[in-house]
Amino acid sequence: MTTTSLPLFVLGQGTDPHSERGVDCPGELPPASDPTLVARARAAKDRLGDRLFVLGHHYQRDEVIQFADVTGDSFKLAREAAARPGAEYIVFCGVHFMAESADILTSNAQRVVLPDLAAGCSMADMATFNQVEECWEALEEAGIADQVVPITYMNSSADIKAFCGRHGGAVCTSSNARRALEWAFEQGRQVLFLPDQHLGRNTAVLEMGFGLDDCVVYNPHRPNGGLTDGALRDARVILWKGHCSVHGRFTADCVDDVRARIPGVNVLVHPECRHEVVTKADFVGSTEYIIKTLEAAPAGSSWAVGTELNLVKRLGTMFPDKTVTFLDKTVCYCSTMNRIDLPHLVWALESLADGHLVNQITVDADTTHWAKVALDRMLALP
Ligand code: 13P
Ligand code: SF4
Repeated sequence: MTTTSLPLFVLGQGTDPHSERGVDCPGELPPASDPTLVARARAAKDRLGDRLFVLGHHYQRDEVIQFADVTGDSFKLAREAAARPGAEYIVFCGVHFMAESADILTSNAQRVVLPDLAAGCSMADMATFNQVEECWEALEEAGIADQVVPITYMNSSADIKAFCGRHGGAVCTSSNARRALEWAFEQGRQVLFLPDQHLGRNTAVLEMGFGLDDCVVYNPHRPNGGLTDGALRDARVILWKGHCSVHGRFTADCVDDVRARIPGVNVLVHPECRHEVVTKADFVGSTEYIIKTLEAAPAGSSWAVGTELNLVKRLGTMFPDKTVTFLDKTVCYCSTMNRIDLPHLVWALESLADGHLVNQITVDADTTHWAKVALDRMLALP
């Protein structure tokens, strides 16, 4: 049984610039109380037929995920988008950086739609293009830029992905971060890892055997990232000071508490969690890995899961023969993932079926070219 009886609140909107635009839904948004919403979504999907393909990230609400043609983690969804050249419309039920990646990986004739433009990601917003350019200048001044390979987590804007493509780097997701870092170390001596310090540190230290002192944290709000040139030169992994406001809530105490409460519990967390949480966990991996691990677990086993709540609640429903508990005692959703609700989905689908293209996500040609270089390097990883 999933423990969700506590008051619910949401996290993750942070500095999202998209939420300030007030342009998330031009036109009539159906009320959430409309009892015909499910039927309307089905009817609009039927009208669009093969012209439409709906992608759904695992953190989406149940009311939305039921309409996804495919569900997945960021990596799987990027591959699925690239593998649908026949679909005129890709409706992305996820967040802005995922829809941008879909636009980059699809043809010019295809249109990618995000049902609510306010669905950003606070982590992605923690690395702006100008900040990353400044960081690169600091690396040039320290005399190391030619041996640093930039790797950006999928959770970053298209211009950061393009920056990595231009500078010999690649994109990674939570399911291939280790392979991406191994690839990067074949190209150079040091890695700049953007924007999630936790995924970078957890991968380098726990999966690849680097020491914590091989890593430094570059703070874009401090001169030279708050680091001396010597510290930059000595580091093997330069971590950007960014994090996920949802996964950052889990603490080492949460792990100790749940182990005290549920003897024999297996602790399973996403690698965006802090290093001390991942160190104490039994299993760590992407959202797709989390689902597969629960699927393969024996009946009667107990699991405490440290990731976004929509997914943890769904796991409790999917696997009633196992006990699935949320790792934190307080409960939170990712607010921006939650922006995509059934009224927005119905509005987007009906608009498309009526011939009105709405909330299209487009990336300019030059950014697309270089971001695709970085994404293709990731997709080609063994
Ligand atoms: P996954 O790549 O594991 O789906 O994670 C995406 C994400 O946004 C996690 O916060
Ligand atoms: Fe961004 Fe994922 Fe964290 Fe939401 S859960 S803020 S989408 S990294």
